[in-house]
Amino acid sequence: AADVQDDLTQVLVTEEQILAKLDEVAARVAADYTGKELLLVGVLKGAVMVMADFSRALPTVVPMDWMAVSSYGAGTQSSGVVQIRKDLDTDLHDKHVLIVEDIIDSGLTLSWLLKNFASRGAASVEVFALLRKPEAAKVQVDCKYVGFDIPNEFVVGYGLDYAERYRNLRDVAILAPHVYA
Ligand code: PRP
Ligand code: MN
Ligand code: MG
Repeated sequence: AADVQDDLTQVLVTEEQILAKLDEVAARVAADYTGKELLLVGVLKGAVMVMADFSRALPTVVPMDWMAVSSYGAGTQSSGVVQIRKDLDTDLHDKHVLIVEDIIDSGLTLSWLLKNFASRGAASVEVFALLRKPEAAKVQVDCKYVGFDIPNEFVVGYGLDYAERYRNLRDVAILAPHVYA
């Protein structure tokens, strides 16, 4: 079998750094939402890993729901066309919603999602993105909690894929250009 390391040029954020950051953000979120009815909304599929580890870093039990949207397909560029593949099961009315995302790249997915959520009657909607690429922003997204700002490179691992691969890598790493050239 081919060595996956040949597909990567550099580890950008290690699993250890991610887990330490999740503890920090979880402490902030726990303090900010004390006494409020918090609902975590994970964006499938990229946010699966961050949702799993972040939710377990919180000190209290918390409900979670999932929305599946996709804008990338198999390419490396966001198409900007966001499709709902699975809607929420939960009524957002009067809920304090925290959207959990793996990455803000162009910002198109989240800005679309925030508009979509605006009409659902939530008490509040905030965003936690583990990664953000400031240089790639096409639209500004109001993101209250950010794990790491990273350079404008195509990254995979810890939930992030290229053509559905590499999601199960423990670290976040830069994908070698020869993989998608
Ligand atoms: C990726 C990533 C974010 C989004 C960020 O999802 O998980 O959801 O793109 O890009 P943007 O800021 O340019 O919109 P993708 O559409 O690849 O679906 P996936 O989560 O199933 O991989
Ligand atoms: Mn995604
Ligand atoms: Mg993807």
